[in-house]
Amino acid sequence: MYPYKELQNIINNEIEQLNFNIEPFELYKPIEYVLSGKGKRLRPVLALIACNLFSDEINEAINPAIGLEVFHNFTLLHDDIMDKADIRRNMPTVHKKWNDNTAILSGDAMMIKAYEFFFFLKPEILSKVLPVFNKTALQVCEGQQFDMEFETRINVTAEEYLQMITLKTAVLLAASLKIGAIIGGASEKDANLLYDFGINLGIAFQLQDDYLDVYGDVKTFGKQIGGDIVSNKKTYMLISAMEKANYEDKKQLFELINSTDIENSRKIKEVTEIYNQLNIPLILKNKLEYFHNLALINLKQIAVKDESKNILSQLSKELIIREQ
Ligand code: IPE
Ligand code: IPE
Ligand code: MG
Ligand code: MG
Ligand code: MG
Repeated sequence: MYPYKELQNIINNEIEQLNFNIEPFELYKPIEYVLSGKGKRLRPVLALIACNLFSDEINEAINPAIGLEVFHNFTLLHDDIMDKADIRRNMPTVHKKWNDNTAILSGDAMMIKAYEFFFFLKPEILSKVLPVFNKTALQVCEGQQFDMEFETRINVTAEEYLQMITLKTAVLLAASLKIGAIIGGASEKDANLLYDFGINLGIAFQLQDDYLDVYGDVKTFGKQIGGDIVSNKKTYMLISAMEKANYEDKKQLFELINSTDIENSRKIKEVTEIYNQLNIPLILKNKLEYFHNLALINLKQIAVKDESKNILSQLSKELIIREQ
């Protein structure tokens, strides 16, 4: 097995070599800009790891892996417009540095570019991989749509939230693993087990993202803290708080969510105080651990040596306590 660092280096070098010095510069510069940010490059590395589980030869998986990262970054350009986010990876977001139209159009171009990276695959592999990618890309849009709709809905259930984050986040991690596995020659059963591992890990991953949105450090997380509270995102934390709150706290939460003239910093502070009082961080961590364990059960069932699977169990542990 390639060590994690080495796979990450392969991806980093490939991305660095991409050429976006093309006219119109206003279309391609933002693409270069977002791809040069300090992202974790998780999806492409997952694709390479999955391929490497079944094959010593990982070269075939590199281009699709890059395609997955380009696709992920495209979703971020549009997500940051939708979420009115001003910073990502400690840099101004594309729509802030340029404008909304630039972020929309450069994002569109990135989605098309993402597909190009898949056409390096042999036709018989491409015909298996493309439907997985396509389905996933559409599911991300579905998840993002639910995420937006939930902002203005008050009665979102934990179940609905979990379904929403499965779509907006988990399916892309899962598909990255499955695509890598297919390229590596995995059996259908193992490819699907890796997919399930990715779904459960992805849910835990988004729970941690939501946690960091409230409790993270702006410098390490690279994103503004409290954005989810400001935009009334129905995160697991807010849903749990609504469930657990007594009459007074619930009333206050409703007032905070419904008020249109409250200062952002005050809203963040007051909602966070309610979370603290109700022990919401602990509730979130328990839920996250539940999905992490499900992921590890999926991983166990995959028919490769335990030794090879260590890289994924180790990674899953690091991801759920990450600060970035
Ligand atoms: C951010 O993804 C969007 C979510 C699904 C939470 P990452 O946390 O993987 O962001 P980068 O690519 O490392 O910046
Ligand atoms: C992002 O969820 C999911 C996608 C980009 C598809 P978030 O909106 O929580 O991601 P961040 O926190 O902005 O990275
Ligand atoms: Mg979002
Ligand atoms: Mg966002
Ligand atoms: Mg977030």
